[in-house]
Amino acid sequence: MKAELKNRQWLIAARPRGLVKESDFRWNETSVPPIKDNQILVRNIVFSFDPTQLGWMSMDTYIPAIPLGQVMRAGAIGQVVESNKPGFSSGDLVQGLFGWEDYTISQGDGLFGMQKLPPGTDPLLALSLFGTTGLTAYFGTLAVGQPKAGETFVVSGAAGAVGSVSGMIAKIKGCRVMGIAGGPEKCDWLTKEAGFDVAIDYRHEDVGAALSASCPKGIDVYFDNVGGEILDLALARLANGARVVLCGAISRYNETEGVFGPGPRNYFNLTFRGARMEGFLVFHFAKRYQEAISALSTWYEEGKIKNKIDLQHGLENAPNTLIRLFTGANLGKQLLKLADPQ
Ligand SMILES: NC(=O)c1ccc[n+]([C@@H]2O[C@H](COP(=O)([O-])OP(=O)(O)OC[C@H]3O[C@@H](n4cnc5c(N)ncnc54)[C@H](OP(=O)(O)O)[C@@H]3O)[C@@H](O)[C@H]2O)c1
Repeated sequence: MKAELKNRQWLIAARPRGLVKESDFRWNETSVPPIKDNQILVRNIVFSFDPTQLGWMSMDTYIPAIPLGQVMRAGAIGQVVESNKPGFSSGDLVQGLFGWEDYTISQGDGLFGMQKLPPGTDPLLALSLFGTTGLTAYFGTLAVGQPKAGETFVVSGAAGAVGSVSGMIAKIKGCRVMGIAGGPEKCDWLTKEAGFDVAIDYRHEDVGAALSASCPKGIDVYFDNVGGEILDLALARLANGARVVLCGAISRYNETEGVFGPGPRNYFNLTFRGARMEGFLVFHFAKRYQEAISALSTWYEEGKIKNKIDLQHGLENAPNTLIRLFTGANLGKQLLKLADPQ
């Protein structure tokens, strides 16, 4: 008989109110039950951290909220320990939506499915540039923003996972790229390492004045990751025919009243400028993922895109790793490593 496996996990204890906190989760220790037909047992290796996870624990969004008392979820890569599912064998690397726990039992038919990864896949790369982050930046920038050479491209949340890749793609397309981010360290990284032309520190600078100074002909593409006041400042400075990409609104995700608060005040400038504002979810482009991964791989190999990863360690640190996204502690893609593949 096999030795019983212990499973450590984080359950959702409360719906977050304001900034998510460690007490919104509860640590639990249990044992792993035997797997059934068509199931696999996965040992989790790396978790992706994404602002949308706050939505999964807070309310119904594009998916129903995770019930209280259940294991918190993350996009993850793990390794198959045992399989009763055809096509999956012990040792395979798999990617899916797994729990904040050491071991997850999966049938592969849950939300967003589960994929077997080719042998030799780098789990960190697969969960960052070649995962949701890179795909979101690719489709938001190119399919929605449609930047042209010589245009002025502004992105907020610029030193984060999606924002940094979006700006680097716009640079590849020949734009003049400006990033808005929090703090001098992030702004230095944007201009000195990521190749941005200008970085605006929204925590210490007057963003409206800085945008006016650095975009004298207005903003052609504004890629918005934060919403709120910064979205309004960008809307007020659009060029004729501008495109505003609504990717995220992280400044509003902690709102306790209403869902994302009131809409932008300066929306009518879209009318004056003949501009377009369009939202998207990366899943809307699922049929084109292979196109994006192939372009991102080429740019990565050519050194035109840097894949900045912020790696934390240990399952016990999962809640604090999620909190980093909302305090701005992360630079680049936030991941958490639990174990090495064997
Ligand atoms: N539409 C889609 O399908 C899709 C898919 C993935 C992600 N997204 C969205 O894309 C955005 C970026 O996601 P990500 O995974 O790349 O996360 P990220 O940018 O790596 O991390 C979040 C960053 O947001 C910034 N931030 C936090 N609170 C803020 C506030 N109140 N005001 C301004 N900035 C704030 C912080 O940077 P600073 O230090 O610069 O403040 C933090 O580092 C999020 O809004 C997310 O929801 C959308």
